[in-house]
Amino acid sequence: MSVKITVDRNSAKESRYVEIIPQIESLVSGESNSIANLSNVTSALKYSFDNFLWVGFYLYDEISDELVLGPFQGRVACTRIKMGKGVCGTSAEKKETIIVEDVNKFPGHLFCDMRSKSEIVVPVIKDGELKGVLDVDSDVYSNFDLTDKKYLETLVNKISKLF
Ligand code: SME
Repeated sequence: MSVKITVDRNSAKESRYVEIIPQIESLVSGESNSIANLSNVTSALKYSFDNFLWVGFYLYDEISDELVLGPFQGRVACTRIKMGKGVCGTSAEKKETIIVEDVNKFPGHLFCDMRSKSEIVVPVIKDGELKGVLDVDSDVYSNFDLTDKKYLETLVNKISKLF
């Protein structure tokens, strides 16, 4: 099994997603450890796109009813996020993807990295239950659109069995 993700860096965003999603599926299919797999998913995403500053999972902890930091790529981040707080907690509570074009304009946005300008958070739902969120931050404004939503939701759906 190859542990390499290849992506045409001259191609547009949509082509990159189309190229990497099957490779990510293949990469995680050979391993049963979730931490290893989720770690590789965050790395594959971060290094396939030019303006992905921080890519990581927050995992839902039923006992505390909070999101707890999971595998990620990027600078150190807040370890716990309450439901309904920040972009991640809001996405988790609503079980909806949230696209933030300018993080300064999102009330209650939690700054982990001051270079972050825009963000997308996709909830991970398995058998109707919240398992966590995938959070991607960018260092440019308005980096995320419906193309990111479509493909990141597709990816999260495909890997939800890892949770
Ligand atoms: N910005 C997120 C917090 C997590 S970090 O950006 C890694 C939020 O508002 O929920």
